[in-house]
Amino acid sequence: MHLQSLILVLASAFLAAALPYGNTRDKKSSYLVGSLPGLYSNIPSDEIPLMFSGQLPLYEENNTHYYFWKHTDNHKASGSENRTIFWLNGGPGCSSMDGALMEAGPFRIDKNLKVTYNNGSWHKSGDIVFVDQPAGTGFSYSDELDHDLPQITNEFIRFLERFFELFPEDCFNSIYLAGESYAGQYIPYIADAILRRNKNLGENEKPFNLKGLLIGNGYVAPDAQALSYLPYAIQAGILDPKNPEWHKVLRQHEACQNSINDASREDKAVGSEVSSHVCERVLSLILEASRDPDRPEDQQCINVYDYTLRDSYPSCGMNWPPDLSYVTPFLRKDPVLRDLNIENHQKWKECSGKVSSSFKAKHSMPSVTLLPSILEQIPIILFNGNRDIICNYIGTENFIKEMKWNGQTGFPEDAYFDWKYGNETAGYIKKDRNLTFVNVFDASHMVPFDKPEISRSLIDLVTGNFIEKTEETGDGKQKRTITTYPLGTRNANGSNNKPATSSEVSGTQSENTADTKTPSHSTSSSEDKNDKSQTLSSRIARIIQLVVVVVLIWGIYILYSSYKSRPTSIIKNKSSNKKKNVQWADQLRQFEEEEIKQNERGILYKAFNKLKGSNNRSKYTPLSGHLTENIELEEGPQIHDKSETADDFAIGSDDEEHEGMKQSSKGHDDSK
Ligand SMILES: *[C@@H]1O[C@H](CO)[C@@H](O)[C@H](O)[C@H]1NC(C)=O
Ligand SMILES: *[C@@H]1O[C@H](CO)[C@@H](O)[C@H](O)[C@H]1NC(C)=O
Ligand SMILES: *[C@@H]1O[C@H](CO)[C@@H](O)[C@H](O)[C@H]1NC(C)=O
Ligand SMILES: *[C@@H]1O[C@H](CO)[C@@H](O)[C@H](O)[C@H]1NC(C)=O
Ligand SMILES: *[C@@H]1O[C@H](CO)[C@@H](O)[C@H](O)[C@H]1NC(C)=O
Ligand SMILES: *[C@@H]1O[C@H](CO)[C@@H](O)[C@H](O)[C@H]1NC(C)=O
Repeated sequence: MHLQSLILVLASAFLAAALPYGNTRDKKSSYLVGSLPGLYSNIPSDEIPLMFSGQLPLYEENNTHYYFWKHTDNHKASGSENRTIFWLNGGPGCSSMDGALMEAGPFRIDKNLKVTYNNGSWHKSGDIVFVDQPAGTGFSYSDELDHDLPQITNEFIRFLERFFELFPEDCFNSIYLAGESYAGQYIPYIADAILRRNKNLGENEKPFNLKGLLIGNGYVAPDAQALSYLPYAIQAGILDPKNPEWHKVLRQHEACQNSINDASREDKAVGSEVSSHVCERVLSLILEASRDPDRPEDQQCINVYDYTLRDSYPSCGMNWPPDLSYVTPFLRKDPVLRDLNIENHQKWKECSGKVSSSFKAKHSMPSVTLLPSILEQIPIILFNGNRDIICNYIGTENFIKEMKWNGQTGFPEDAYFDWKYGNETAGYIKKDRNLTFVNVFDASHMVPFDKPEISRSLIDLVTGNFIEKTEETGDGKQKRTITTYPLGTRNANGSNNKPATSSEVSGTQSENTADTKTPSHSTSSSEDKNDKSQTLSSRIARIIQLVVVVVLIWGIYILYSSYKSRPTSIIKNKSSNKKKNVQWADQLRQFEEEEIKQNERGILYKAFNKLKGSNNRSKYTPLSGHLTENIELEEGPQIHDKSETADDFAIGSDDEEHEGMKQSSKGHDDSK
């Protein structure tokens, strides 16, 4: 009996070693995702994507692995072929599983910790790959942690190289980088590095076919964005001059403006370090001022990610979104870790305090300084959910106003369009010289969370798959509209294709023409077949592996029961296992303690971590035009009366801004 089981074990071990994809982690099939809780019961079989997931080795020296999860549609809509979107969440230190399971990915997690289908998944418009970055975030790991933007940039380029080694059939695809919040720093840095790399290819290096960037509620220009908290709070009705804390907030806003001005004066060329907590304090004070102690405990504070929602104080949004309470336990379930090929287990956390406190980006300029050179080469979409406070649209529009790109500063007058999704008003757009700004109505900091299907059509904006119309409104004015369409309806007959009254311009399908130039053309169909047969064989390999594992476990069990009569050896075994467990638990406790410490540090500390790291990070770029200005608020219909009573305010009047505020206040009205 014992001999029999021993032979079995040996035989199966031999078999496992002899299998084609048996042991090497680098082979594609070992990253295949074959199941997930709920996958076959909750997801229509047609809609189950082909998925790969796992921790990709980047550097042996410091044991750095990046976790990715790739989703490919099995029935690609025409136009979405040959496209790979990489999605990055912010923090620093927040996992892109936020993006995968609450935003742009094909699944949501329900209360039974099973996957359900997201009708607005971006994988219908191109392969989407969610990446945990920098090292230490989510399921990515390393012996060391990153400190600055150039470091994560190099790491991410390395990740891309490794990724395309694993998926060579994708290496001529059009690449888009998309993400949110602090990824507004990562993405321009990575894009800039890719564009430079493409011009300076080393031997055997292939260019990355980067075609565009999509940045949602991005943290891009710290100073302009910090100066937007007060105007936004007033416009959203969060704060008014009757509030007892009004003057305190104003003084802090002024202090923030002064610190930015001082920084600009000192060292215009390089940009100098400003203790940004002066500016971040403006937001803390606004939240304190708007606290309502008469409400139930969990409703006392405004949610910084969506001003129409409330949260307990001082969380002010930390407990949001509600899906987080399903996503976290889901990503800690052992079967899920197995399904996702997670080899190095670490307890998944939405945001890692360790990573964010290490990532200070002390020696980098904010990414806004990179946008002009990127815009000479590829288009960028900056989109903002209009309900977000922490990275609000006013801040984004304000830094665009100050930015010079492709020969001009800011958007011209005629850059404004209404945005329709099918026949539904979705927001407004400003677009010129490769830059598109999108205000998404009724959406939070996490746009695809609130508006999955509409958010997917942002990809159509960057690829040129939209219709632009200009109509004469009779009084000599023009009404301009950009329309994107629900999947598969753009060319369908019906209400969508009413002829335009005056002129109609279809977005340029620039991507497709560019794609045909890539060398992938001639080899692709054989590559396609290759891919399919590889997938099939990898599935078979997986089944064989499974059988082998079952046999192995059975054999080990037999062996184990036969050794039961020798207690000493078992005790030894157990104690060594236990030691390992204790170490692991100690590490966990350390993490947990650190998180607690951080929570104690300040009301908004964690909120900012979720978005952009620790308090004393970051340099402020001088904004031209801010040097001699005092606090200045735009005149707008909603804030006019209120700011008149505040003599501290210098009220600027500017017709262009007036119009912008009217448009945006319309958005707010819609949302109430
Ligand atoms: C998703 O789409 C399916 C089929 O088109 C529909 O039955 C379902 O109600 C939709 N779900 C949501 C949440 O919109
Ligand atoms: C790991 O080592 C590589 C190569 O030396 C380096 O480029 C990278 O920044 C290191 N990663 C971390 C997290 O320190
Ligand atoms: C916009 O980007 C394209 C590439 O997509 C580039 O060829 C063009 O020069 C850019 N436009 C301007 C005005 O720089
Ligand atoms: C939008 O179009 C759909 C079908 O095309 C129609 O059922 C719906 O009533 C329209 N909605 C509006 C606001 O026009
Ligand atoms: C739209 O309908 C017309 C006839 O009604 C047909 O000739 C045309 O091919 C249709 N177009 C599409 C895109 O279905
Ligand atoms: C995608 O690539 C394949 C081969 O590389 C090509 O045959 C096909 O036309 C491409 N599709 C588009 C929309 O460019």
